[in-house]
Amino acid sequence: PEIFAPLRGNARGFDLTHTQTLDEIAQARSPFLDKTWQAAPLLAGKAAPQAATPVTNPADPDASPGTVRNASPADVATALDKAKPWTAPLSERRNILLKAADLIEDHFGEIFALLTLEAGKGLPDCVAELREGVDFLRYYAGQATGEPPAGIFTCISPWNFPMAIFVGQISAALAAGNAVLAKPAEQTPLVAHVTVSLLHQAGVPKTALQLLPGGGDIGAALTGDKRINGVAFTGSTATAQRIRANMATHCAPGTPLIAETGGLNAMIVDSTALPEQAVQAIVESAFQSAGQRCSALRCLYVQEDIAEDLIKMLIGAMQALKMGDPWDLSTDVGPVIDELARKGILDHVETARAEGRLVAELNAPATGTFVAPTILRVSGIGDLKREIFGPILHIATFKSQELDAVIDAINATGYGLTFGLHTRIDDRVQYVSERIEAGNIYINRNQIGAIVGSQPFGGEGLSGTGPKAGGPNYLPRFGAPDVQQVAG
Ligand code: NAD
Ligand code: ALA
Repeated sequence: PEIFAPLRGNARGFDLTHTQTLDEIAQARSPFLDKTWQAAPLLAGKAAPQAATPVTNPADPDASPGTVRNASPADVATALDKAKPWTAPLSERRNILLKAADLIEDHFGEIFALLTLEAGKGLPDCVAELREGVDFLRYYAGQATGEPPAGIFTCISPWNFPMAIFVGQISAALAAGNAVLAKPAEQTPLVAHVTVSLLHQAGVPKTALQLLPGGGDIGAALTGDKRINGVAFTGSTATAQRIRANMATHCAPGTPLIAETGGLNAMIVDSTALPEQAVQAIVESAFQSAGQRCSALRCLYVQEDIAEDLIKMLIGAMQALKMGDPWDLSTDVGPVIDELARKGILDHVETARAEGRLVAELNAPATGTFVAPTILRVSGIGDLKREIFGPILHIATFKSQELDAVIDAINATGYGLTFGLHTRIDDRVQYVSERIEAGNIYINRNQIGAIVGSQPFGGEGLSGTGPKAGGPNYLPRFGAPDVQQVAG
């Protein structure tokens, strides 16, 4: 009989306070510093020839890490034609996914190099990303039950977790026995190519996993075909809405869409909070990963009585952040992903500056697509009309009797991804947690970095359809329609 594969716990990661560990990482990365990678479709059939275009290094526009040959409409047709659900026995599928996790860990040097060169990630983010990716593989391998799959699943991922979310979606779809058509974000095809190659090397058949690099046009082709039996998407809310409309027109009725999308994430700090703890949590939540996490803090509400002191401390902590080259271990804030993102964020900052709402900002390096951590004043979260996907923190104050109005304003955005609360009043923890509509609520800590298996991650409302990734309800949604209904 099939038995559950051992979960083996979460990946150990790397202790970056150990100089020996740092030396080992430097040694593992060094063969890849000057490598030029090439990404291309990985299909079960022959790919049509396409021109190669350079991939951008966000920290250094003159140092491209490689090129990509994007998939063409003919490649989408080939992939759909060749895709076959993964029918190997459950124990074999589990073992292959577990082997893929081990292989990915073994290749950490190359993956860290790519996460830095292609996505601008610093070493702590590289470590977190690798751990999350292999955790997903092991967690879903352990959860697979051998129920019938949906069929063919399209998986579309964003650039901000180009390995972890990319492999998370794929591993769930594969663990459930589907054929996967994987489309990474156009900014990060190289790490996707390496990851899929390692999954193939572990034994996932090419008919069960095909890679189709490309942009929105390829994404649209892969989500607008009646042969698709499901779509797993992570990215912006606007793109999810486009995909839903495309699927409604072109896919069979009832084809499931699992969408994990953006957020307007808030934190409330009341006058009983521990200031040092709150400031550290705010800085991490707003500025780590250059604010490019869907979970990142966008709007902080501070109780009026402590606002002046807390904001002063916060500005001090922000000024201690070092911006610069993500290779450098002393860097706290690296670049944003590309020039388009930078311009969109800076336009928002300039509007606030013109309106006299700038509270504090750092200086960004002149080359590369850097945005300085910045604090802006707002009257409330309702002033934010869109998710600003970068290191920009908005601050509002509230009076003690306004707590309910603040909760109402946060809920009224329609988003519901993460939320943070700093207080030492136990009843308030209970009360606010019950009233706030958010997928992940964090008390007296930062609000980023959910751990696979123990902190299932995902939002509600405009932030996602559920089920939460890295939790027990995720995998059944990749099954045949009757499996999904049982999970429902
Ligand atoms: P995006 O929506 O621009 O792109 C995401 C993916 O969708 C990319 O692969 C892109 O090529 C593809 N795409 C674009 N147009 C498409 C179309 N018409 N049809 C099909 N696919 C299409 O998002 P992004 O800028 O890559 O990522 C940042 C966004 O992702 C932020 O909004 C962030 O909050 C969100 N995000 C959410 C989570 C979560 O778990 N909730 C996690 C990470 C990122
Ligand atoms: N899962 C990621 C986090 O929690 C997005 O920050």
